[in-house]
Amino acid sequence: MGEISLERLVAPDAAWVSRQVIGDPEIYAKERTRIFERCWLVVAHESQLPAPGDFVASTMGEEPVIVQRDRDGTVRVFLNSCSHRASRICRTDRGNASTWICPNHGWAFATDGRLLAIPQILEGYGPDFDRASRSLLSARTDVYRGFIFATFDERAPDLVDYLGDAARYLDTVYDRYEGGVEVLGGQQKVVVDSNWKLVAENLGTDLQHPEVAHGAFMEMWPDPVMSFMKESEQVLTSAGHPICIGRQLPPYTERESALALASTAEEEREIHEWFDDSLAYASKHLGDLYSGLYVFTGGIFPNLSFLPGINAVYLCHPRGPLQTEWWSWCVVPAQAPKLVKEAMRSLFMLASGPGGIILAEDVENWADMTRSSLGEVGARMPFDVSRGLGEEYTDPELPGSFATMRSEHAQRAFWRNWRRSMSA
Ligand code: FES
Ligand SMILES: [Fe+2]
Repeated sequence: MGEISLERLVAPDAAWVSRQVIGDPEIYAKERTRIFERCWLVVAHESQLPAPGDFVASTMGEEPVIVQRDRDGTVRVFLNSCSHRASRICRTDRGNASTWICPNHGWAFATDGRLLAIPQILEGYGPDFDRASRSLLSARTDVYRGFIFATFDERAPDLVDYLGDAARYLDTVYDRYEGGVEVLGGQQKVVVDSNWKLVAENLGTDLQHPEVAHGAFMEMWPDPVMSFMKESEQVLTSAGHPICIGRQLPPYTERESALALASTAEEEREIHEWFDDSLAYASKHLGDLYSGLYVFTGGIFPNLSFLPGINAVYLCHPRGPLQTEWWSWCVVPAQAPKLVKEAMRSLFMLASGPGGIILAEDVENWADMTRSSLGEVGARMPFDVSRGLGEEYTDPELPGSFATMRSEHAQRAFWRNWRRSMSA
């Protein structure tokens, strides 16, 4: 795919995007190699692998991978595909393993990916068989604030450079608590009939839709939060990842919800103490400016999104141009009292759990946008992403290019990233 066709797919300023990017199988094939093979992708969170040998089965684009903590504590990511003849060596979602034995012909691998043994190896292969060249294929791996990233591209920039200034804003959410954060419970997986980009763009950047698409849910939330969200801003950070922030912590916090669950004075005291200590820790650790920011939503290109307001982190994995496997994690402070975690979990479940109202409303819209982009006539019309174009501004203290919440600045950032990645 040359530059010319990409220019026809996304405007130079990303003010419009061709609907062809949704259903075209050739575009999807390029996304697999140019985006999902090259970008840093989150595959798991460290809290899901606390002990040596712990593993989770994950995915990088459509490639199945195993994420495992080795005996020395190192986290490794391997292609979940036997070096003999491609079988998945791991057939379960999570667990602990000291070795891997392929269920097909029994090749055995160590937790560092080395081929350890083959049944009756001397019969047929001979003494000169080169085991070292038959290791499991490993991906480059790095960890940021507990989030395990991996890439198949040896030439990709280091993760800190890939994240750029987005990391400063991520820190205001995931580095504000002593002891860090953890994924609470398992991961929720849903296959939706939508192109992956509509899921990623919506979850990571779209602050315009909640008032309409989630109007009923918004009415259930205390009103100050809604007014507060209207004053939020979008920030396009140095490496192109968009974050939506508020300049102050919201008037409604988890403190009230946790206190509502307390039945003894001792529980109330513990909750107050933890919140007070956390605010003091964040102020000292992040500084007054960053600890006073509130991140509403954000996206690390291509497929990681986070909505700290409902304690959610999302991954969307493409499954062909018209389907996405959407994973949700409930992420909470690891050392918070039980009732604080419970309050956070309840909000996550109400908004985004299996019966969560937001989930149902969003899925309906993504599937509808996907279907409506496939018609011959409809596909000739572009998506309009022009709102607020040219009204961006800078901030004297914070990094990035800013726009108000009413702009589509953050969405344009997603599509610019897409065009840049596809042309590389
Ligand atoms: S495919 Fe794994 S041992 Fe043959
Ligand atoms: Fe939504």
